[in-house]
Amino acid sequence: MSPPTDPSRMHRYDDQSDALARAVFDYVADRTRREVPLDRPRPAAELEAEAGAGVTPEGLGWREALRRFTEVLAPATISSDHPLHLAYVPGAPTESAVLFDLVVSASSIFAGSWQEGAGAVFAENQALGWLAALCGLPTGAGGCFVSGGSAANLSALVAARHAAATRRRGDRPRRWRVAATAEAHSSVRSATAIMDVDLLHVPGDARGALRGDALHDALAADPDGGDGVFAVVTTAGSTNVGIVDDLAGAARVASERGLWLHVDAAYGGAALAAPSVRHLFAGVEHADSVTIDPHKWLFSPFDCAALLYRDPALAAAAHTQEAAYLDAVTRDEWNPHDYAYHLSRRARGLPFWFSLAANGTDAYRDAVEATLTVTRRVAAEISARGRLELVLEPELSVVLFRRLGWGRADYDEWAERALADQRAFVRPTSWRGEPVMRFCFVNPRTTVEMVRPLLDSMLA
Ligand SMILES: Cc1ncc(COP(=O)(O)O)c(C=O)c1O
Repeated sequence: MSPPTDPSRMHRYDDQSDALARAVFDYVADRTRREVPLDRPRPAAELEAEAGAGVTPEGLGWREALRRFTEVLAPATISSDHPLHLAYVPGAPTESAVLFDLVVSASSIFAGSWQEGAGAVFAENQALGWLAALCGLPTGAGGCFVSGGSAANLSALVAARHAAATRRRGDRPRRWRVAATAEAHSSVRSATAIMDVDLLHVPGDARGALRGDALHDALAADPDGGDGVFAVVTTAGSTNVGIVDDLAGAARVASERGLWLHVDAAYGGAALAAPSVRHLFAGVEHADSVTIDPHKWLFSPFDCAALLYRDPALAAAAHTQEAAYLDAVTRDEWNPHDYAYHLSRRARGLPFWFSLAANGTDAYRDAVEATLTVTRRVAAEISARGRLELVLEPELSVVLFRRLGWGRADYDEWAERALADQRAFVRPTSWRGEPVMRFCFVNPRTTVEMVRPLLDSMLA
């Protein structure tokens, strides 16, 4: 058995720590400065062979551990901020947000409560305040940052059901239900499964959008008369297609029926800052809760999702945890841990706040508009090419298009080749059962000139 080590040696700042700090800063500066590498995943066996056992009783020493990360592990990940990462919903954090993330880590802030995290919570609330103002939510709206849109949607629905159950005073319906279309994000189905809640399916329109009249009809046609339906989940920027539901119509029906209106704008919420498409969000001001993920299109590093409530007290009633050891938490100030399913939390909204504070909201408006412009120009490029065809005119920054004559295997093969050649990371999807190509633009560094050769390669 090896002799015991000095228990404080990992927490002592010495010459080694100084060298490590410099090496880390150099890596970060270099990663931020240079052209972003695309890179790719590798099989575990290869990583095992090259990176070996990282966790050993004696430790590798920081130099070797850092070498393994920079030389083997980091290149085995795909950079979400590569300008031609157009798959799923990528990210594109600003330099100030990325660099400030280091400050957040170094500051060891418990941002669950005001008692411990007042300054951080105050700043996070300013960032949330900007989002709430973009939505047009009333004074008093607020919430917290959680790890992602999935966590935000779940937490919002838990708050919604709690509010409905409180209103019904113990008169439980046969089944609790949430109204949504098939285009709602998969996390909504996941949340309802976790909550043991059913879905009331609302048929989407030709683009898959939820419309107020369809919601009204679905509730009217329900054999139980809509009993147990406590929330309607609308999507403002659907993941697959980038369409915005008829929020005003949904809000009208929700208000008539006393339903909680949740707006999942995890991806699309950034576009609230863009004057050219702001009108699509009319009605969002009536939301009871809104999800907006800055780690998607608002240039924050992972993981950062904003969850806003019109009436935060309803969320606190559902989420506040009680225990003897929590009695000493002061309750008269803003405690983010009361507004979602969590207790400990990183101040994950701070990099977003710092970037907003440093760059100003006009820079955000312009960056989001720039990605919308690129999206429209790419759509025009697609339409101009004979064997490419738009499936739908883009509403926000998702473009769906088909390559005439291609099936799923062709799309998959082309996408694999693009990654193997380190040109782009793109993935196909399907629309109404048909395999199609999907690009999602969130990175202001992406240009039409970069995308053009990618389109051309589909015709080669
Ligand atoms: C509309 C929408 N809602 C929810 C989510 C889930 O967000 P997350 O991956 O951060 O959990 C996504 C992710 O793409 C999304 O587009």
